[in-house]
Amino acid sequence: MTLDSGPLVQTAIYIAGGAEWPLASEEWEERARAALEPGAFDYVAGGAGAEATMRANLEAFERMRLRPRMLVGTAERDLSVEVLGLRSPVPFLLAPVGVLSIVHPDAELAVARAAAATGVPLVLSSAASTSLEDVAAVGPPRWYQLYWYSNREIAASLVKRAEQAGYGAIVLTLDTLMLGWRDRDLRRGYLPFLQGEGLAQFFSDPVFLAGLDTPPGEDVATASIQALATFPNLGLTWDDLAWLREQTSLPLVVKGVLRGDDARLALEHGAAGIVVSNHGGRQVDGAVAALDALVEVREEVGDGAVVLMDSGVRRGADVLKALALGADAVLVGRPYAYGLAVGGQAGVEAVIAQLAAELDVTCALAGVRTVADADRSLVSP
Ligand code: FNR
Repeated sequence: MTLDSGPLVQTAIYIAGGAEWPLASEEWEERARAALEPGAFDYVAGGAGAEATMRANLEAFERMRLRPRMLVGTAERDLSVEVLGLRSPVPFLLAPVGVLSIVHPDAELAVARAAAATGVPLVLSSAASTSLEDVAAVGPPRWYQLYWYSNREIAASLVKRAEQAGYGAIVLTLDTLMLGWRDRDLRRGYLPFLQGEGLAQFFSDPVFLAGLDTPPGEDVATASIQALATFPNLGLTWDDLAWLREQTSLPLVVKGVLRGDDARLALEHGAAGIVVSNHGGRQVDGAVAALDALVEVREEVGDGAVVLMDSGVRRGADVLKALALGADAVLVGRPYAYGLAVGGQAGVEAVIAQLAAELDVTCALAGVRTVADADRSLVSP
């Protein structure tokens, strides 16, 4: 499927007599709630603690207002971006979202097919339910997200595998060296990894498998616990990044930065790019909204550095606000997971197509022809 222009998508919906899919992100979320088993829905929808940061992410976008520019001549628009060699027809990517087998049986394969069909890149999670090689075989434009487990040999193996499978960058997530305190999941004791879900990178990894007495096929419970035991890695420091840099020639992007000084440290320690993110409010409850952190980070690192952001992007206007505040592109998380829950691959494609179309219409009306036009003057708090 090609991503049609906003006006074309809009006209097609009117002519069809209405939208085939849910339109607003709240509608997608409600449809996903109806489609999913309650534990799975809460795992995706929930955040850390009182979920204050999860709400703050949305409020920060709400607070910021666009200042549309008139009579720029926006009949021709090109909203494509290229970030560290990765091209996207739109200024957003699909964020790493783990354990998608709890959302849909086709899991990451459906997402990869939607990414390949639309050309919108996928950042594949370390906690995916599909091996990175199987996702690569579908052929989406792709980066690999790394959880740096306390076992360095496994981390090195994952990075090598990602490089061999044609992933264009390693996105090291800094904010999840252990799981956040998540009320919804704690209340139920819901942790899909304990049942072997979301461990496909482990179960396909020669280094991990060599350390097991019994293969996961014969004893999934023990293999899962052994995988989970390597997960917390709170001893990690900036100095460790030098070791990771030696493991790969791929650019290293760090995800989960919320402060200007950390952004500077990341660049000083060899990161090629930064994702400003609070993990969708799933890690540190009470943390600053990602959009507010974006402003601080961009001011600190200047125009030249590669800065992406996620956490709270729901609508076309949100994408434009983030671009105007200094993001080179954004990542979309929960919305496509809800699309997957509602309609598998077609649902993910619908979420992508709608977001692209709404963004395109917003840009057409706000005087934005390319992402370069989305400067700071386009927003006011
Ligand atoms: C995530 N996120 C995430 N991030 C990451 O680096 N590795 C991962 O495996 C996961 N897994 C994951 C699972 C689920 C269910 C969610 C909702 C999120 C975080 C993700 O990449 C992104 O930062 C957030 O989703 C952004 O917040 P919103 O916009 O989705 O609310």
